Amino acid sequence: MSVELGIIGYPIGHSISPVFQQAALDHCGIDAAYQAWEVHHDGVGGFVNALRRPGMLGINVTVPHKEAVIPFLDEVDDWAAEAGAVNTIVNRDGRLTGHNTDGTGFLRALREGAGFDPAGRKVLVLGAGGAARGVVLALLRDGVAELVIANRTLQRAEALVRLASSRDIPARAISLTSSDLSQAAAEADLIVNSTTLGMTHGPDEGASPLSREHIPPTALVNDLVYNPLRTPLLQEAEQAGASVLGGIQMLVYQGAASFEMWFGQPAPVPVMLEAASQAMRARSQSLNG
Ligand SMILES: NC(=O)c1ccc[n+]([C@@H]2O[C@H](COP(=O)([O-])OP(=O)(O)OC[C@H]3O[C@@H](n4cnc5c(N)ncnc54)[C@H](OP(=O)(O)O)[C@@H]3O)[C@@H](O)[C@H]2O)c1
Repeated sequence: MSVELGIIGYPIGHSISPVFQQAALDHCGIDAAYQAWEVHHDGVGGFVNALRRPGMLGINVTVPHKEAVIPFLDEVDDWAAEAGAVNTIVNRDGRLTGHNTDGTGFLRALREGAGFDPAGRKVLVLGAGGAARGVVLALLRDGVAELVIANRTLQRAEALVRLASSRDIPARAISLTSSDLSQAAAEADLIVNSTTLGMTHGPDEGASPLSREHIPPTALVNDLVYNPLRTPLLQEAEQAGASVLGGIQMLVYQGAASFEMWFGQPAPVPVMLEAASQAMRARSQSLNG
Protein backbone atom coordinates (compact mmCIF):
# COMPACT_ATOMS: atom_id res chain seq x y z
CA MET A 1 0.00 0.00 0.00
CA SER A 2 1.26 3.47 -0.83
CA VAL A 3 1.75 5.70 2.22
CA GLU A 4 1.41 9.46 2.61
CA LEU A 5 3.89 11.94 4.07
CA GLY A 6 5.16 15.45 3.40
CA ILE A 7 5.78 18.91 4.84
CA ILE A 8 3.64 21.92 5.75
CA GLY A 9 4.66 25.56 5.92
CA TYR A 10 3.66 28.98 4.62
CA PRO A 11 5.10 29.64 2.09
CA ILE A 12 6.55 26.23 1.23
CA GLY A 13 8.08 26.65 -2.25
CA HIS A 14 11.56 27.36 -0.81
CA SER A 15 11.81 24.06 1.07
CA ILE A 16 14.21 21.43 -0.28
CA SER A 17 12.92 18.73 2.11
CA PRO A 18 10.74 17.27 -0.70
CA VAL A 19 13.88 16.82 -2.83
CA PHE A 20 16.03 14.94 -0.34
CA GLN A 21 13.18 13.03 1.35
CA GLN A 22 11.97 11.80 -2.04
CA ALA A 23 15.53 10.76 -2.91
CA ALA A 24 15.59 8.71 0.31
CA LEU A 25 12.20 7.09 -0.43
CA ASP A 26 13.25 6.20 -3.97
CA HIS A 27 16.61 4.85 -2.81
CA CYS A 28 14.90 2.62 -0.22
CA GLY A 29 12.24 1.45 -2.72
CA ILE A 30 9.39 2.89 -0.62
CA ASP A 31 6.20 3.51 -2.60
CA ALA A 32 5.36 7.06 -1.50
CA ALA A 33 5.41 10.65 -2.77
CA TYR A 34 6.67 13.19 -0.22
CA GLN A 35 4.35 16.17 -0.71
CA ALA A 36 4.59 19.89 0.07
CA TRP A 37 1.45 21.53 1.46
CA GLU A 38 1.15 25.30 1.75
CA VAL A 39 -1.15 25.73 4.75
CA HIS A 40 -2.35 29.11 5.99
CA HIS A 41 -2.34 29.70 9.76
CA ASP A 42 -6.16 29.39 9.94
CA GLY A 43 -6.00 25.93 8.40
CA VAL A 44 -3.35 24.39 10.69
CA GLY A 45 -5.77 22.77 13.21
CA GLY A 46 -7.94 21.15 10.54
CA PHE A 47 -4.89 19.96 8.60
CA VAL A 48 -3.26 18.38 11.66
CA ASN A 49 -6.46 16.63 12.80
CA ALA A 50 -6.83 15.09 9.34
CA LEU A 51 -3.36 13.48 9.69
CA ARG A 52 -4.97 10.74 11.82
CA ARG A 53 -6.19 8.98 8.66
CA PRO A 54 -4.94 5.44 7.76
CA GLY A 55 -1.93 5.43 5.44
CA MET A 56 -0.73 8.85 6.62
CA LEU A 57 2.68 8.33 8.29
CA GLY A 58 3.18 11.94 9.38
CA ILE A 59 4.70 15.21 8.28
CA ASN A 60 7.53 17.65 8.71
CA VAL A 61 6.57 21.11 9.92
CA THR A 62 8.43 24.25 8.93
CA VAL A 63 8.07 27.99 9.50
CA PRO A 64 5.78 29.51 10.61
CA HIS A 65 3.83 26.52 12.04
CA LYS A 66 6.33 24.82 14.39
CA GLU A 67 4.56 26.18 17.48
CA ALA A 68 1.03 26.40 16.08
CA VAL A 69 0.71 22.61 15.57
CA ILE A 70 1.37 21.73 19.24
CA PRO A 71 -2.17 22.18 20.67
CA PHE A 72 -3.53 19.69 18.10
CA LEU A 73 -1.17 16.83 19.06
CA ASP A 74 -1.75 14.03 21.60
CA GLU A 75 1.80 14.18 22.98
CA VAL A 76 5.15 15.92 22.40
CA ASP A 77 8.60 14.47 23.20
CA ASP A 78 11.18 16.09 25.54
CA TRP A 79 13.10 17.82 22.74
CA ALA A 80 9.94 19.42 21.32
CA ALA A 81 8.64 20.40 24.77
CA GLU A 82 11.95 22.06 25.67
CA ALA A 83 12.25 23.85 22.31
CA GLY A 84 8.55 24.81 22.32
CA ALA A 85 8.52 23.79 18.66
CA VAL A 86 7.66 20.68 16.63
CA ASN A 87 9.26 19.87 13.26
CA THR A 88 8.07 16.26 12.92
CA ILE A 89 4.65 14.68 13.49
CA VAL A 90 4.19 10.90 13.59
CA ASN A 91 0.76 9.26 13.15
CA ARG A 92 0.46 5.86 14.83
CA ASP A 93 -3.05 4.42 14.48
CA GLY A 94 -4.65 7.85 14.75
CA ARG A 95 -2.50 9.05 17.64
CA LEU A 96 -0.31 12.06 16.81
CA THR A 97 3.06 12.66 18.51
CA GLY A 98 5.21 15.76 18.01
CA HIS A 99 9.00 15.69 17.89
CA ASN A 100 11.82 18.14 17.32
CA THR A 101 14.77 16.67 15.43
CA ASP A 102 16.69 19.96 14.97
CA GLY A 103 18.84 19.35 18.08
CA THR A 104 19.69 15.74 17.29
CA GLY A 105 20.21 16.70 13.62
CA PHE A 106 22.67 19.40 14.68
CA LEU A 107 24.59 17.00 16.96
CA ARG A 108 24.71 14.22 14.35
CA ALA A 109 25.92 16.72 11.74
CA LEU A 110 28.78 17.72 14.08
CA ARG A 111 29.70 14.11 14.87
CA GLU A 112 29.19 12.39 11.54
CA GLY A 113 29.84 15.36 9.26
CA ALA A 114 32.88 16.80 11.05
CA GLY A 115 33.99 14.22 13.67
CA PHE A 116 33.39 16.81 16.40
CA ASP A 117 32.10 15.95 19.89
CA PRO A 118 30.90 19.08 21.77
CA ALA A 119 31.17 17.49 25.26
CA GLY A 120 33.65 19.43 27.37
CA ARG A 121 34.32 22.01 24.63
CA LYS A 122 34.04 25.82 24.48
CA VAL A 123 31.38 27.02 22.06
CA LEU A 124 30.55 30.42 20.58
CA VAL A 125 27.00 30.68 19.18
CA LEU A 126 26.30 33.67 16.93
CA GLY A 127 22.59 34.56 16.96
CA ALA A 128 19.77 33.95 19.40
CA GLY A 129 16.67 33.22 17.29
CA GLY A 130 14.75 29.98 16.78
CA ALA A 131 17.65 28.01 15.31
CA ALA A 132 20.00 29.18 18.09
CA ARG A 133 17.57 27.96 20.75
CA GLY A 134 17.59 24.44 19.27
CA VAL A 135 21.38 24.48 19.01
CA VAL A 136 21.90 25.76 22.57
CA LEU A 137 19.53 23.15 24.04
CA ALA A 138 21.39 20.40 22.16
CA LEU A 139 24.80 21.67 23.28
CA LEU A 140 23.64 21.85 26.90
CA ARG A 141 22.31 18.29 26.75
CA ASP A 142 25.65 17.19 25.36
CA GLY A 143 27.60 18.74 28.24
CA VAL A 144 29.56 21.61 26.70
CA ALA A 145 32.13 23.16 29.03
CA GLU A 146 31.32 26.80 28.30
CA LEU A 147 28.98 28.81 26.09
CA VAL A 148 29.16 32.35 24.75
CA ILE A 149 26.10 33.62 22.90
CA ALA A 150 26.58 36.71 20.74
CA ASN A 151 23.57 38.45 19.31
CA ARG A 152 22.63 41.81 17.83
CA THR A 153 19.79 42.08 20.38
CA LEU A 154 21.48 41.36 23.71
CA GLN A 155 18.25 40.48 25.60
CA ARG A 156 17.61 37.51 23.33
CA ALA A 157 21.10 36.16 24.02
CA GLU A 158 20.54 36.67 27.75
CA ALA A 159 17.36 34.55 27.57
CA LEU A 160 19.40 31.66 26.11
CA VAL A 161 22.08 32.13 28.76
CA ARG A 162 19.41 31.54 31.42
CA LEU A 163 18.85 28.06 29.92
CA ALA A 164 22.53 27.31 30.57
CA SER A 165 22.54 28.79 34.07
CA SER A 166 19.68 26.49 35.07
CA ARG A 167 22.00 23.57 34.23
CA ASP A 168 25.09 25.01 35.95
CA ILE A 169 26.98 25.41 32.69
CA PRO A 170 29.05 28.63 32.51
CA ALA A 171 27.57 30.93 29.89
CA ARG A 172 27.54 34.61 29.00
CA ALA A 173 25.77 36.86 26.54
CA ILE A 174 27.59 39.48 24.48
CA SER A 175 26.63 41.85 21.73
CA LEU A 176 27.53 40.79 18.20
CA THR A 177 29.33 44.10 17.80
CA SER A 178 31.17 44.14 21.15
CA SER A 179 34.97 44.05 21.41
CA ASP A 180 34.53 40.83 23.48
CA LEU A 181 33.54 38.96 20.33
CA SER A 182 37.09 38.51 19.03
CA GLN A 183 38.25 37.15 22.41
CA ALA A 184 35.31 34.71 22.56
CA ALA A 185 36.08 33.55 19.00
CA ALA A 186 39.79 33.13 19.77
CA GLU A 187 38.96 30.81 22.70
CA ALA A 188 36.26 28.75 20.96
CA ASP A 189 36.61 25.11 19.87
CA LEU A 190 33.35 25.42 17.93
CA ILE A 191 31.76 28.51 16.35
CA VAL A 192 28.14 28.17 15.18
CA ASN A 193 26.48 30.84 13.07
CA SER A 194 22.71 30.90 13.56
CA THR A 195 22.19 34.46 12.40
CA THR A 196 20.83 35.13 8.93
CA LEU A 197 24.04 36.98 7.97
CA GLY A 198 25.33 35.75 4.61
CA MET A 199 22.02 34.18 3.54
CA THR A 200 21.02 34.54 -0.13
CA HIS A 201 18.05 36.95 -0.41
CA GLY A 202 18.53 37.92 3.25
CA PRO A 203 19.04 41.55 4.23
CA ASP A 204 22.78 40.90 4.70
CA GLU A 205 23.63 38.69 1.76
CA GLY A 206 27.41 38.60 1.35
CA ALA A 207 28.10 39.55 4.99
CA SER A 208 30.06 37.42 7.46
CA PRO A 209 29.59 37.71 11.25
CA LEU A 210 33.35 37.10 11.74
CA SER A 211 36.39 37.84 9.62
CA ARG A 212 39.34 35.50 9.14
CA GLU A 213 41.68 37.21 11.59
CA HIS A 214 39.25 36.43 14.41
CA ILE A 215 38.84 32.73 13.61
CA PRO A 216 41.34 30.34 15.23
CA PRO A 217 42.74 27.64 12.91
CA THR A 218 41.99 25.04 15.59
CA ALA A 219 38.23 25.73 15.57
CA LEU A 220 35.39 24.04 13.74
CA VAL A 221 33.10 26.63 12.13
CA ASN A 222 29.53 25.47 11.46
CA ASP A 223 27.35 27.88 9.51
CA LEU A 224 23.66 26.94 9.77
CA VAL A 225 22.98 29.07 6.71
CA TYR A 226 22.87 26.66 3.74
CA ASN A 227 21.97 29.03 0.93
CA PRO A 228 24.59 29.55 -0.46
CA LEU A 229 26.31 26.24 0.34
CA ARG A 230 29.66 28.03 0.72
CA THR A 231 28.76 31.06 2.81
CA PRO A 232 30.90 34.17 3.40
CA LEU A 233 31.65 32.92 6.95
CA LEU A 234 32.80 29.50 5.69
CA GLN A 235 35.06 31.23 3.19
CA GLU A 236 36.57 33.35 5.97
CA ALA A 237 37.03 30.22 8.11
CA GLU A 238 38.74 28.34 5.28
CA GLN A 239 41.10 31.28 4.79
CA ALA A 240 41.90 31.15 8.50
CA GLY A 241 42.77 27.45 8.20
CA ALA A 242 39.82 26.34 10.36
CA SER A 243 37.65 23.27 9.75
CA VAL A 244 34.23 24.01 8.25
CA LEU A 245 30.78 22.42 8.21
CA GLY A 246 27.90 23.77 6.10
CA GLY A 247 24.27 24.12 7.19
CA ILE A 248 23.07 21.57 4.64
CA GLN A 249 24.37 18.85 6.99
CA MET A 250 22.09 19.82 9.87
CA LEU A 251 19.18 20.24 7.47
CA VAL A 252 19.65 16.73 6.10
CA TYR A 253 20.31 15.09 9.47
CA GLN A 254 17.15 16.58 11.01
CA GLY A 255 15.24 15.19 8.02
CA ALA A 256 17.01 11.85 8.36
CA ALA A 257 15.84 11.65 11.97
CA SER A 258 12.24 12.27 10.82
CA PHE A 259 12.59 9.54 8.17
CA GLU A 260 13.86 7.12 10.82
CA MET A 261 10.84 7.88 13.06
CA TRP A 262 8.36 7.25 10.24
CA PHE A 263 9.97 4.11 8.82
CA GLY A 264 11.95 2.60 11.73
CA GLN A 265 14.97 2.06 9.48
CA PRO A 266 18.21 4.03 8.96
CA ALA A 267 17.93 6.91 6.53
CA PRO A 268 20.29 6.86 3.51
CA VAL A 269 22.10 10.05 4.62
CA PRO A 270 24.71 10.22 1.80
CA VAL A 271 21.92 9.96 -0.81
CA MET A 272 19.95 12.71 0.95
CA LEU A 273 23.02 14.95 1.27
CA GLU A 274 23.85 14.59 -2.41
CA ALA A 275 20.24 15.35 -3.46
CA ALA A 276 20.05 18.39 -1.16
CA SER A 277 23.41 19.78 -2.30
CA GLN A 278 22.52 19.26 -5.95
CA ALA A 279 19.19 21.07 -5.45
CA MET A 280 20.95 24.04 -3.83
CA ARG A 281 23.55 24.19 -6.61
CA ALA A 282 20.79 24.08 -9.26
CA ARG A 283 18.96 26.93 -7.51
CA SER A 284 22.01 29.15 -7.40
CA GLN A 285 22.83 28.37 -11.07
CA SER A 286 19.31 29.25 -12.18
CA LEU A 287 19.59 32.54 -10.26
CA ASN A 288 22.95 33.38 -11.79
CA GLY A 289 22.15 32.03 -15.25
N1 LIG B 1 20.75 24.26 8.65
C1 LIG B 1 19.58 24.12 9.21
O1 LIG B 1 19.06 23.01 9.37
C2 LIG B 1 18.88 25.33 9.71
C3 LIG B 1 17.81 25.22 10.62
C4 LIG B 1 17.19 26.39 11.06
C5 LIG B 1 17.62 27.61 10.60
N2 LIG B 1 18.66 27.68 9.72
C6 LIG B 1 19.16 28.98 9.25
O2 LIG B 1 19.57 29.72 10.38
C7 LIG B 1 19.32 31.11 10.17
C8 LIG B 1 18.51 31.67 11.34
O3 LIG B 1 17.25 31.07 11.37
P1 LIG B 1 16.23 31.33 12.59
O4 LIG B 1 15.07 30.47 12.33
O5 LIG B 1 16.92 31.24 13.90
O6 LIG B 1 15.84 32.86 12.34
P2 LIG B 1 15.33 33.94 13.43
O7 LIG B 1 14.64 33.26 14.55
O8 LIG B 1 14.64 34.96 12.64
O9 LIG B 1 16.70 34.56 14.01
C9 LIG B 1 17.52 35.38 13.21
C10 LIG B 1 18.84 35.66 13.91
O10 LIG B 1 19.65 36.43 13.01
C11 LIG B 1 19.99 37.68 13.64
N3 LIG B 1 20.08 38.74 12.64
C12 LIG B 1 19.19 39.02 11.66
N4 LIG B 1 19.61 40.07 10.93
C13 LIG B 1 20.80 40.47 11.47
C14 LIG B 1 21.73 41.50 11.17
N5 LIG B 1 21.52 42.37 10.18
N6 LIG B 1 22.85 41.59 11.92
C15 LIG B 1 23.08 40.73 12.92
N7 LIG B 1 22.22 39.73 13.27
C16 LIG B 1 21.10 39.60 12.54
C17 LIG B 1 18.88 37.92 14.63
O11 LIG B 1 19.31 38.86 15.61
P3 LIG B 1 18.23 39.68 16.48
O12 LIG B 1 17.82 38.78 17.60
O13 LIG B 1 18.98 40.86 16.92
O14 LIG B 1 17.08 40.03 15.56
C18 LIG B 1 18.67 36.50 15.18
O15 LIG B 1 19.70 36.16 16.09
C19 LIG B 1 18.63 31.21 8.81
O16 LIG B 1 19.59 31.51 7.84
C20 LIG B 1 18.09 29.80 8.59
O17 LIG B 1 18.00 29.48 7.20
C21 LIG B 1 19.29 26.57 9.28
